[in-house]
Amino acid sequence: MKIFKDPKELIKFRQSIKKSVGFVPTMGALHNGHLSLIKRSILENDYTIVSIFVNPTQFLEGEDFDKYPKKIEADLKICSLAGVDFVFLPDIDDMYQDHELSIKAPKIEGFILEGYKRAGHFDGVLQIVLKLLNITKPTNAYFGKKDAQQLYMIIKMKEQLFLDTNIIACEIVREADGLALSSRNVYLSKEDRQKALNLSKSLKLATKLIMDGERDSKVIKSHMRKILKDCHVEYVEIVDREFKKLEKVEISNTIILVAVKVNETRLIDNIWI
Ligand code: PAJ
Repeated sequence: MKIFKDPKELIKFRQSIKKSVGFVPTMGALHNGHLSLIKRSILENDYTIVSIFVNPTQFLEGEDFDKYPKKIEADLKICSLAGVDFVFLPDIDDMYQDHELSIKAPKIEGFILEGYKRAGHFDGVLQIVLKLLNITKPTNAYFGKKDAQQLYMIIKMKEQLFLDTNIIACEIVREADGLALSSRNVYLSKEDRQKALNLSKSLKLATKLIMDGERDSKVIKSHMRKILKDCHVEYVEIVDREFKKLEKVEISNTIILVAVKVNETRLIDNIWI
């Protein structure tokens, strides 16, 4: 496994690869969710590049940029054991200059839900993902449905900026008890973790209600909120695959999303119906 730090070096090296390249962008502290993307990339491409970069521009004032978990040695071991060919590990100064042009997430879709609660977050995500795609020029790039709105924004960016990479959506990986894997789960105390289980429980209940014939978003959301009563709920929302709010669930065209804070830890989860 070869490690690149300098973007220019990777750009040059990339030109020598004539076969298919899969790319998995991450912020490190790798877990089985990341690993599922990595494994899929390895399966579907001749070469796989993983980037590990905690991107400062997608964190807002007061968020956890400084304390975001860093486990670089363990991450490199995970990549190497999984069979990753190249890891891209840039420094902030190599990725950003003093006066950067900016990318703006679309006005409506970029400023609801996550974009409303974390205004400017998606601008930073799109900026770094575009840089990373330009450096790695992947055939296929892999993103988790866990960050459903991020995935949607990236698909929009691909379409609107005519990017030549296939964006591949990957299923959410969960612990046996239902908790969606997240690098931020390490912040949770035992007690917090118990409360955090309510996210997946609320989504399970929503699924059951829908399977039993309920379609009314208001009814489903109010049942979900009851399960989430011990968490500080930021939003519970039911949208279509274009992130437009739905009054009635549409089978095969619905995403149910929740965001909560358990103590100081912000957690998101969702299910695609
Ligand atoms: P990060 O949170 O490290 O996640 C990297 C990728 O792993 C994302 O596509 C995310 O959706 C996916 N992922 C995280 N948890 C998952 C889970 N439980 N199951 C499946 N996939 C999961 O998302 C980012 O980093 C950054 O915003 C990034 C795209 C790298 C840009 O900085």
